[in-house]
Amino acid sequence: MPNLPLGIPSDLDKYFFNRKKELIKLNTFISGFKQNVANQILITGRRGVGKSFLLMKFRMELPENVLSAYVDLSKIHGMQKGRITEEKVMHGLFEEMLGSLENKDPLRKIYKLKDSLLKKLSAKNYDFKAAGNLLGIPIPQVDDDYEKLSSLVMEFPQKVVDDNRENIDGFVIILDEFQLIGEFENPEAFFWLIRSYTQHQDNVTYIFTGSTSATSEIVEKINGAQGAFGGRMIQFPVEPFNEKDTYDYLKEMISEIKFTPEGLKRFYKCTNGYPSYINSFCNTMSEGRTYDSEMVIETFYGKLDQIAVMWVFIWATLSDYEKEIIEILTETEALSWNDLLSKVNYSNKTLLKYTNRLKNKGILSHTNKKYAIEDIMLRSWLKYRKENDGYYPP
Ligand SMILES: Nc1ncnc2c1ncn2[C@@H]1O[C@H](COP(=O)(O)OP(=O)(O)OP(=O)(O)O)[C@@H](O)[C@H]1O
Ligand SMILES: [Mg+2]
Repeated sequence: MPNLPLGIPSDLDKYFFNRKKELIKLNTFISGFKQNVANQILITGRRGVGKSFLLMKFRMELPENVLSAYVDLSKIHGMQKGRITEEKVMHGLFEEMLGSLENKDPLRKIYKLKDSLLKKLSAKNYDFKAAGNLLGIPIPQVDDDYEKLSSLVMEFPQKVVDDNRENIDGFVIILDEFQLIGEFENPEAFFWLIRSYTQHQDNVTYIFTGSTSATSEIVEKINGAQGAFGGRMIQFPVEPFNEKDTYDYLKEMISEIKFTPEGLKRFYKCTNGYPSYINSFCNTMSEGRTYDSEMVIETFYGKLDQIAVMWVFIWATLSDYEKEIIEILTETEALSWNDLLSKVNYSNKTLLKYTNRLKNKGILSHTNKKYAIEDIMLRSWLKYRKENDGYYPP
């Protein structure tokens, strides 16, 4: 049986496939650092399409003179037992920014301050006068702790570049699972804060990415016409592998598994080219037999819990409201707002709250004024469980 990774493997190069065009694009977007031109980037795409893996690879291949920090907001979310705050995100950013200096020789002196600076942060002692002097960042005399913290963190990357022009051209900061910012009390304020700093920073690129559809509320808030960046961010969606890529990937990664041409086509239809599903499906297949279309279907339904494993985990994290909305839409395809509202027992306001959450999580789509479940694997899995168990997973 193949053993393809279900998460991001530590040996990136062993498993990373193609995405050449996306990598060229990303590199073009940061190619202006030397001329003091920085872009801000928003990368959307459904769950399991390969956003994080792509960005890991991009990060690994960054030129020597570009620093980078990677923050996964779902980790901060997890550690906070479901509560994510601006302050925690700032801590996470600062920690990763400092961490990125470890192997850059002249910057190591700042890296060495990491532990003592972070200790100050965790003690909520935001008196950065001394730290500000050490880092050379003028810390404004403000009363509000969060303001002090955020100005330290937000000024930091540009300052590092400015002080090290001979070695460093730019700083890339990746915020993964950024849709969780939607859980802040005031997501707009956070986006505006970042925008207000990036406006004057010519060598810092933020890349926001997460599982959310290009039309979600959170995307509107950050880059919509009324959003903080007002359309100035470069936005691009990561697409699943196309049919040919999928076949090439299978040939390269699991040459021991044989398919008939119809079997291959069926495999592509079942996975839609999503690398996460391709991998989890492959891991259920055996050598020594040739998969035709029927065998692919049989395996698909026989091992659906394993193939849709990603959703088994996500399902467990959803609230009862969210589950109910998904169940309704699993049974009825697309629904207008009023039709959806008529099927639930709670208020307009509550429904709005949870549909927005589901949109931010990239689970619900809202196109042509109709709500629908974006992911067919999620639908297949739920339908299958309902048929087999008589009820939806609890
Ligand atoms: N280019 C690729 N080559 C090979 N495998 C890939 C590629 N992209 C993604 N994968 C595999 O697909 C799975 C999902 O990838 P990844 O975690 O990057 O997706 P994602 O879009 O970040 O998903 P999520 O929205 O859930 O965070 C991983 O197991 C990864 O190993
Ligand atoms: Mg990801």
